[in-house]
Amino acid sequence: MADAVNRDEEERRLNELKDFIEDVKNREFPDSYLIAVLHKAQNLYNYLRKDIIYEIATSMNIPVSTIWGVATFYHYFNLEPRGKYVIFVCLGTACYVKGAERILNTLREQLKIDIGQTTDDMLFTLLETRCLGACGISPVMMVNNKVHSQLTPKKVIEIINNYRKA
Ligand code: FES
Repeated sequence: MADAVNRDEEERRLNELKDFIEDVKNREFPDSYLIAVLHKAQNLYNYLRKDIIYEIATSMNIPVSTIWGVATFYHYFNLEPRGKYVIFVCLGTACYVKGAERILNTLREQLKIDIGQTTDDMLFTLLETRCLGACGISPVMMVNNKVHSQLTPKKVIEIINNYRKA
């Protein structure tokens, strides 16, 4: 049953991507939409899977090496799967002065992963960033699109536990 659901979901995503590519191919200079296509693929699949990169290359008639070059150039694109919750801990100057290192260490201990890694249960990915533009309420971290401010180690543990329960 689960396999059938996964197959249906996989087919739905692939069809959505193919429709998007077909739409792009009907426009002027379709190659210039490569980044938009990669965005679409990442939104559908969470990251840029190798087989999907090949699918895009074939459908758009663009060399895989070109696509690979674009995907690795932009930090936005993920080439590895990410967790359900992506945590960006700010290590900018203001946050650092206010204790970002303690926040990072608490996250490392709680999640048992380091920067750039994802927990085995695929719930959390831990990443660093430089200044989220919220220096006045530092130290901060962003979980998906939500900013958590004036963090303390205790607050971080509560936040993580809340996401685990969600
Ligand atoms: S340095 Fe962290 S928000 Fe600016």
